[in-house]
Amino acid sequence: MGDHPVLFIPGPTEVDEELRRILAEPLIGHREERFVAVVRDVCTRLCDLYLTKEPAAFETCPATALMEAGIRNFVPRGARSLHLVCGAFSERWQQIASACGRTAEPLTVPLGRAHDPDALRARLRNGPPVAAVAITHNETATGVLEPLRDLAHVVRTEAPDALVLVDVVTSVGGAELRFDDWGLDFAFAGTQKCLALPPGLCTYTASGRALRRAATVDERGFLLDLPRAIAETNDGKTLATPCVPLVFALQRQLERVAAEGLPARQARHLAMRDTTLAWAASRGMRAFVADPAHRSPTVSCIDAAGQDVDAMSKRAAGGGFKIDKGYGTLRGVAFRIGHMGDHTVDRVRALLAAM
Ligand SMILES: Cc1ncc(COP(=O)(O)O)c(C=O)c1O
Repeated sequence: MGDHPVLFIPGPTEVDEELRRILAEPLIGHREERFVAVVRDVCTRLCDLYLTKEPAAFETCPATALMEAGIRNFVPRGARSLHLVCGAFSERWQQIASACGRTAEPLTVPLGRAHDPDALRARLRNGPPVAAVAITHNETATGVLEPLRDLAHVVRTEAPDALVLVDVVTSVGGAELRFDDWGLDFAFAGTQKCLALPPGLCTYTASGRALRRAATVDERGFLLDLPRAIAETNDGKTLATPCVPLVFALQRQLERVAAEGLPARQARHLAMRDTTLAWAASRGMRAFVADPAHRSPTVSCIDAAGQDVDAMSKRAAGGGFKIDKGYGTLRGVAFRIGHMGDHTVDRVRALLAAM
């Protein structure tokens, strides 16, 4: 195969040659006019990715920093946030909220399951009021895609004052996501997932009502004071020095995403998932997520049904590919294939043939 293992882990994912060439170009200063124009252009293009008329921006940090910023900006100190926990990343968000001194209440479902909108409705009706509901759209640890549109609708109708904060780290650019239509208030993602760039930047958007709320919240911090950061970045002036090469590569990648079109991109991800799960079934294995409606289009988690995950991973490596052997307690039991970003059905087939 090629000169390096092709990444089919659930992020970071494979970065193609054109983007790697952009990343290797000589550096320019971040206050130069040419770069300021790129920053403004990227902010505009991000609105098309999130399908929003609200302002969007980026920051130089991992996605975990935006999980924390979401809590610090949108949940007042001492207030309660409700966390839809279905795996390691949604659980991390709850832990972050606790660490920030908020009352972080989990609403937990077993691994491999998504949340039932009716259960969320019952909790919002019967429990103490919450300032925000935190949802992980695509739980990367288990390959669960939450029914985000329905869950957000429940929050909007049952708790109109609660903000809907969403981790779209492994969904935006791969799964359907409609920020405005679905009534979301904050969403963020790292570039290393469905945008097929290296880690280092985080893109995000926030609703006007969320930004107005944030303006009344104390101790939002400095770098990730989102009302300020989003305004300054849209003006082309990031507060701190951003990862300049990545911003250029992000601009190019957003052009390419627009050229492919979001519906075609989502269809490609669904086709990669279906190819992967059909292969698993033909080998006597099954999707870890029982309900087909909640199977992620970007990360397939496969119950190995007692087959040797190490051996499959070694055969993948022999073919020039890298897969993931399972997250946390699922290691060796349910392995994961990340089919996101610029991967194609043909390349997924090559990986599966090697395995
Ligand atoms: C759903 C989800 N949220 C958050 C993160 C954390 O991202 P980062 O490692 O960029 O902080 C990940 C990383 O895999 C993820 O999959």
